Amino acid sequence: SILFWACNQTINNEDSSIKIGFSQGLGGHPWRTAMNYSMEIQASLHSEVELTILKADDVVENQIKNIQTFIDKKVDVIIVSPIDPDALVPVIEKAYSYGIPIILLDRKINSNKYTTYIGADNIEVGRQAAQYIASSTNKEINVLEIKGDDNSSPTRERSKGFHEVLDKLPNVHIIKSFKGLPVDDFKRTLDSLKENKVDYLFAFNDDLAGKAWEIARKSGVENQLKFIGVDGLNSSVGGIQMILDGKFSATILYPTGAVEAIETAIKIHHKETVAKRQVLGTTIIDRFNVDIMRNQFDKIDEQQAIIENQVS
Ligand code: AHR
Repeated sequence: SILFWACNQTINNEDSSIKIGFSQGLGGHPWRTAMNYSMEIQASLHSEVELTILKADDVVENQIKNIQTFIDKKVDVIIVSPIDPDALVPVIEKAYSYGIPIILLDRKINSNKYTTYIGADNIEVGRQAAQYIASSTNKEINVLEIKGDDNSSPTRERSKGFHEVLDKLPNVHIIKSFKGLPVDDFKRTLDSLKENKVDYLFAFNDDLAGKAWEIARKSGVENQLKFIGVDGLNSSVGGIQMILDGKFSATILYPTGAVEAIETAIKIHHKETVAKRQVLGTTIIDRFNVDIMRNQFDKIDEQQAIIENQVS
């Protein structure tokens, strides 16, 4: 019962440890791996923090179970990066009603029963990609959009911001918006490039932009259009490397928010007030600043590796 849970919470709170449960919704994606890793590293800097990460691997039912597990274990704070804006509402609201602070990370839900949302402004991400294209020319240009394939807030908001800017411009034509990357349809569109020139392709993330680039390369048309992604990871398959390799023109650096999530969980546990919405900055990376970004991220990666070695 709620009373039993509340009594236990009092007992738990006498203990100086902070039990944080992180429910990671999506798996098999480098940006998600980076999020999990940064969270572990950040947690390891605080000896009082006990972090448990449960991964749902894209299965909503798993994520519901994982959050229920955190409720049963009476963790002090739950961090959730939700797969879906609706399906998780009941279990998140349940945890919240039991008094467990909820930090939503990166993706939103259709409920206001949570403590704080931490993430970048995805409408702004879409606008930044659109402004990058718009500022490149006054000539007539054609653009392809590869949207996310789900109903998540980043999928909806990135596309919204992108259209908000470009739909007003008479010289820019978004000739096709794909939902995800339907390979055959995309190939057919590339085949028609000879008649209908395409100038830019904006994809929901670097992963999709990279897959689209690979398909374009196989069709021999990869140099006929410019690729823009989102995430800007500093790995061998990340957006920074893609720019250095000349495959992408740009990517939008999209922070995981893992560090902020841990720091916020600690603040909440210590009864400090936190804003309901914590917006993380995003920035365009292109050939003009890619070297600076690479150097900065190399330093962060080195520091993380040092911390990891010290902890293990
Ligand atoms: O929800 C945000 C997106 O999810 C990131 O941009 C992405 O690449 C990840 O898997």
